Amino acid sequence: MGFKKDFLWGSASAAYQIEGAYNEAGKGPSIWDLWAHIPGKTFEGTNGDIACNHYYRFKEDVALMKEMGLKTYRFSISWPRIIPKGTGEINQEGIDFYSALIDELIANDIVPMVTLYHWDLPQTLQDDYRGWESRRVIKDFVSYSKVCFENFSDRVSHWIVMNEPNIFTSLAYMLKVHPPGIQDEAVYLKAFHHTVLAHAYTVLAFKEAGYKGMIGSSIAYTPSYAATNQTQDLRAKEMFDATGSLWFLDSYYKGEYPIDAVNYYKKKGVLPEISRADLEIMAKAASLCDFIGINYYQTATVASNPEDGVGFGEMNTSGKKGTQSESGVPGLYKQVRNENLEYTDWDWAIDPNGLKYGLEILKDRYHLPIVISENGLGAYDLMTEEGTIEDDYRIDFLRKHILACESAIENGVELIAYCTWSFTDLLSWLNGFKKRYGFVYIDFESGSLERTKKKSYEWYKKVITSNGEEV
Ligand code: BG6
Repeated sequence: MGFKKDFLWGSASAAYQIEGAYNEAGKGPSIWDLWAHIPGKTFEGTNGDIACNHYYRFKEDVALMKEMGLKTYRFSISWPRIIPKGTGEINQEGIDFYSALIDELIANDIVPMVTLYHWDLPQTLQDDYRGWESRRVIKDFVSYSKVCFENFSDRVSHWIVMNEPNIFTSLAYMLKVHPPGIQDEAVYLKAFHHTVLAHAYTVLAFKEAGYKGMIGSSIAYTPSYAATNQTQDLRAKEMFDATGSLWFLDSYYKGEYPIDAVNYYKKKGVLPEISRADLEIMAKAASLCDFIGINYYQTATVASNPEDGVGFGEMNTSGKKGTQSESGVPGLYKQVRNENLEYTDWDWAIDPNGLKYGLEILKDRYHLPIVISENGLGAYDLMTEEGTIEDDYRIDFLRKHILACESAIENGVELIAYCTWSFTDLLSWLNGFKKRYGFVYIDFESGSLERTKKKSYEWYKKVITSNGEEV
């Protein structure tokens, strides 16, 4: 029992959040390059122009991974670095960069786990046909994926097609905080449906070409509890799940949408066009996926919400604890504070048991191996005068989540990988550089971008060496 011998202990990142070199080496602009340059869109105007300068310092970063003994490193490929205008001409320098990174990882015994889409859509596609709002994006996405398979699948065996399609579509088309920053439920559902199809056709292309390896997508998974045992709160929880986790997971991993939510959206007049052909492709792809990827940060506690109740609340992007307000969908549900849980400075609930609970739900519902592609704690880390970073709170957080994984495995969950978010500190899309997640501290303040190992670095090294025995 416990973690298998070949368990992939990993850590993760995303291109826009670490690479920098945003307008160099033939890369085209992404929607994030433009969005982050619009005043007021990100925390204190932070952007990924330079970020961790990983584009130029990747060897140093991989050396740190090697020294730690990391088994897998999950990173994303920037679509506009490979195909600057989203479609058409390929940028050889982009291919060479990822090729060199993959080779470097393999030379250091680290399994590359590649994400194809972590939110940096080529700006040209946004300008040409409004990106994810149009069905045209599906074909372009599949062509881009094929370029990646052709160039890297000889060395890459783990593919994550989409990263958190549920988060980027809701933040972009409902909450207005990601590009293109609009609020329209019908557009949100349509854009999400297009991610499902882009994923599905990509999975089919991968399998039809006969590539070896495993493929899936990563959903941000937020298991939920009803706030009380009263019927109206239980019903609110059901609708939170139907329009949330199940909407996202069933479409990717069952090839269908949950009927309660379909009826709800139909009544509202916002259901997108979902054709019979779409459903067939979705079902086929679902049957071919090799694993479910989830990013787990927290659970939600859900209560009923009257027709004139709360809608979208304030997001805490400042790191001032307690500034997140209640939020919900009037007439459906609202999320409330869970008095049994501690919260981070950004008001995210800390709930390791929720991870075990969620993993067991996934096992029973989808019967697939699971990759935890992100889990971690965003915190203010301070460097002491001696130059150390004593992030015991992160060790405590990760330890409890790893124990939760172990206990889920003992209950029959087939967990094959656990990636922490993140390996080095990096840019948080909306929270700037102060919200740190890494094992490796980066000096963003002075601009030197010097890397320093935190206390958690040495701790995770032991976890890996002992295959999860010593946490
Ligand atoms: C996930 C994303 O949503 O959570 C990452 O895949 C992100 O890209 C991470 O950075 C943590 O979120 P945040 O908002 O704290 O940076």
